[in-house]
Formats: sequence, C-alpha cells, structure tokens
Amino acid sequence: MSIPTRPITLTVNGKATAPAQVPEGLMMIDFLHEYLGLTGSRLGCGQGVCHACVVIVDKPDGGSEQMRTCITGAHFFDGKKVRTIEGHAKRNEKGEVVALSPIQQKFIEHFSFQCGYCTPGFVNAATVFVEKLKRQPIARAQLEPAINEALNDHICRCTGYVRYFEAVRDVVLQTPGLLKDGK
Ligand code: FES
Ligand code: FES
Repeated sequence: MSIPTRPITLTVNGKATAPAQVPEGLMMIDFLHEYLGLTGSRLGCGQGVCHACVVIVDKPDGGSEQMRTCITGAHFFDGKKVRTIEGHAKRNEKGEVVALSPIQQKFIEHFSFQCGYCTPGFVNAATVFVEKLKRQPIARAQLEPAINEALNDHICRCTGYVRYFEAVRDVVLQTPGLLKDGK
C-alpha cells in the first residue's frame, strides 16, 4: 500500500519552493527538515505545547502570526508565505550572514539563551510581537504585560525567561514608533 501524496508549493523566506509531492498528513516540521533542508525549526514536545517549532506565516492583510509546525500539516501551508529562523538574518549573495535581525542581536547581547533549543521559537514569537506593535502601537504602561503575553506560550528549560523578556523590551524601547507615547 502506498501513502497518498498531494502537491504543495509555498513561499519560504521569500523564495518559492519547488513543487513537491508530499504525503498527506506529513507535519510541516518534517517538510521543512526533510524536503527543504531547513533544520532550524526545533522539534521539542511534538505535541503543540512548547512552541519551539513555530514559524511565521505572513497573512494577506499584512499581519503575521506564529504557527506550530509539529501539529500542523504541511498542506495547511500550501500557497502561503512562511518565514523560518533561517530567514531572519540578512545574507550576502553567497548566502553568508552579514547582519542579524534586531531581535537576534539583542538575544545575543542579553545572553538570553543557553542551549538555544528554544531560541528559534522565541525569535519568531518576538518578531511577530514587534511587527504587531508596528501596526498597532501600545502605551508604554502596557509593554511589560504585552511582552509576557507574547512569549508566554514558549517553554525554555534553561534560562528562566528573564533575559528573553529584557531583550525584547530593549528592542521595543529602541525602535521608534512601537509605543504610542514614545520611550
Ligand atoms: S515541538 Fe511543536 S509545540 Fe513543542
Ligand atoms: S536555552 Fe535551552 S531550552 Fe531555552
């Protein structure tokens, strides 16, 4: 008995993927790892709990959201625009990283992670959060609870979260236009 397959094409980190026949029910994280060679998205719990596996989906209305790839089938993403951890840094024409994203840079400056297993998920969560603030700035007084809410679903077994929190707060405070009442 052969496993039924269906075609899938999507845009990942700004590039259209080659059309592929993919088994029905294949989870997105396996598609990223095995078909695209993008292994930066981490399989943690595999049950939708830890959020290590999230990618960013760019929505037609200009918004962005996180999606868990361990519990979401690859075909759900057919035709969609997806960003993975590999897509955050700026690269030169040889594909070499020449500049980290502001979130990545701050996570390093704050020593936010230890083993780093959860970090791709935190980078994606923080990026979605900052992008939301660009569209809908909030009052300064709302910032700390909003960061807590944005990162709340992500589990880290190493660091205790404080340094992730502080790094995201730094990014927001140092990026013009994210707060209604400035710094
Ligand atoms: S690996 Fe996907 S939520 Fe834990
Ligand atoms: S840095 Fe190790 S799990 Fe978060």
